[in-house]
Amino acid sequence: ESGFVTLDPGYKNTGATQSAITFLDGEEGILRYRGYPIEQLAEKSSFIEVAYLLIYGSLPTAQELEDFSNRIKRHTLVNEDMRKILDGFPYTAHPMGILSALVSSLTAFYPESLNPNQTKDEVDLTIVRLLAKISTIAAWSYKNSIGHPVIYPKNSLDYCSNFMHMMFAYPTETYEVNPIVIDALNKLLILHADHEQNCSTSTVRLVGSANASLYSSVSAGISALWGPLHGGANQAVIEMLEEIKADGGDSKKFIAKAKDKNDPFRLMGFGHRVYKNFDPRAKIIKKSADDVLSALGIKDPILDIAKELEEAALTDPYFVDRKLYPNVDFYSGIIYQALGIPTNMFTVMFALGRMPGWIAQWKELRENKEPIGRPRQIYVGEKERDYVSIEKR
Ligand code: SDX
Repeated sequence: ESGFVTLDPGYKNTGATQSAITFLDGEEGILRYRGYPIEQLAEKSSFIEVAYLLIYGSLPTAQELEDFSNRIKRHTLVNEDMRKILDGFPYTAHPMGILSALVSSLTAFYPESLNPNQTKDEVDLTIVRLLAKISTIAAWSYKNSIGHPVIYPKNSLDYCSNFMHMMFAYPTETYEVNPIVIDALNKLLILHADHEQNCSTSTVRLVGSANASLYSSVSAGISALWGPLHGGANQAVIEMLEEIKADGGDSKKFIAKAKDKNDPFRLMGFGHRVYKNFDPRAKIIKKSADDVLSALGIKDPILDIAKELEEAALTDPYFVDRKLYPNVDFYSGIIYQALGIPTNMFTVMFALGRMPGWIAQWKELRENKEPIGRPRQIYVGEKERDYVSIEKR
């Protein structure tokens, strides 16, 4: 400590705010959105209903949910000029980079979103536009990465079906909605919907605390989520599992690598800053992976490799001592793959799911008129010294 500042790298022991949105208990593995356990919401709710709950604080009546869903449907189209921005990206662009750029560009098409003193109804419209358009932007970023024509939303479809339609339909053929797929997608998006003050949500709050617009704040959150130690882990997990499979499937060899301090390799999808016994989302997703793959008649060898890794880690002192267990990213990619979603879109799926959480947290910060975020530091640099002319250096 130096004077008045307590150093806390990574904010491991810092409470940045007071929030009424999500409750986590890392020891007990508890996660609740506005008081409702995620186990019940994953089983009984829908992603749009959970989005309403997180943003407005209570479960909607049937009428409120229908109005909310219809409002979202009427805003799924994006300005046609956004296609010019999209077309500017090479097909090699990672969809997360496109997502962050196009979400930020919403401020250009809706400049009123830049006004920090919007009325409640204006904020609501800003929010509905983002929830609606993020699914279109996400699907279009995928189409751009495979050089295929973008598909427009269909208002007769619910949110998740519409997204899958925009992802997998073609001008030449429609996408057949499979209820098993849509149910699995709703569940996955619900489980990603919020997670209190994680890295990307703290980013959204920090940017929002400067009175930056919702779109700029969320665009920054997307960039933070892209990091392989955060949301990017779900893509890294599948790449790791494929590497183990290609290497002959010997998970013990990779466990040894993960324990080797000289080897930068980490068991991606393991460990969590808060959960120290298990990630309740990983438990639900692991079960859902079994259900979805068997319902779709898919036998994916990397699911067996993932289970072997989990088993090996649960009995290995290195992981047990450090309380490293599978997190939300460990099994989610296996389901996304079974739904036909390509690896480079996994972190986009995380962003799609986390959108209502980011929005709710930004809205809460603004309603609570929280001060601009500005942490201090402990200076460890040079003492005062005089300028030296270049001849004397
Ligand atoms: C998400 O915060 C959130 O809520 C995030 C999230 C959300 O919903 O928003 O839950 C989503 O980001 C989940 C996490 C996805 N990331 C990964 O799976 C990447 C692999 N995991 C790690 O990099 C790590 O566990 C973190 C980033 C998740 C947590 O990092 P911490 O809390 O800063 O812990 P640490 O890096 O200091 O690790 C503690 C020890 C270290 O060993 P020692 O130096 O004490 O000897 O555990 C080791 C680490 O080397 N360790 C691992 C490991 N994770 C930590 N060793 C091998 N494999 C791993 N995965």
